[in-house]
Amino acid sequence: MQELNLKVNGKEYTVKVKADMNLLEVLRDKLQITSPKVGCNTGDCGACSVIMDGQLIKSCVTHAMIADGKEVTTLEGIFSPGKLHPIQEAFHEVAAAQCGFCTPGMIMTVKALLDSNPNPSEEEIREGIAGNLCRCTGYTAVVKAVKLAAANMNGGE
Ligand code: FES
Ligand code: FES
Repeated sequence: MQELNLKVNGKEYTVKVKADMNLLEVLRDKLQITSPKVGCNTGDCGACSVIMDGQLIKSCVTHAMIADGKEVTTLEGIFSPGKLHPIQEAFHEVAAAQCGFCTPGMIMTVKALLDSNPNPSEEEIREGIAGNLCRCTGYTAVVKAVKLAAANMNGGE
């Protein structure tokens, strides 16, 4: 067991982790932060996407100790009860979440995209979400939601 110190959604944690543990397991099993989902567990689906020190990462293929001393943000960290994040509002408005399994990871990916490129083209949006698989929407509504979120975040509200 090793000691891991990290900050998640603004809160400091110290946890004991096994040598083979990944960050997704720490978030879900140790900290009960469950928006990052266990999809493929091989870095291919994006359901476990979170932001670590400003970088989008797939937490299932990130060794737990890589997060030592780092700051991790999950979906739980970007909204408060009764106040959705503009990206969540846009997803809701255009029904870009169906079963919802991919949605937390997708929203973190979109957040990272809009943080670095506040006004992406459709091509840039499709490229940005290419690492996040969605079996329900066909991506059309997701792209629409990203455009709406970008417009709203750029002064539309
Ligand atoms: S669960 Fe991490 S990429 Fe699929
Ligand atoms: S909404 Fe079901 S997988 Fe994306």
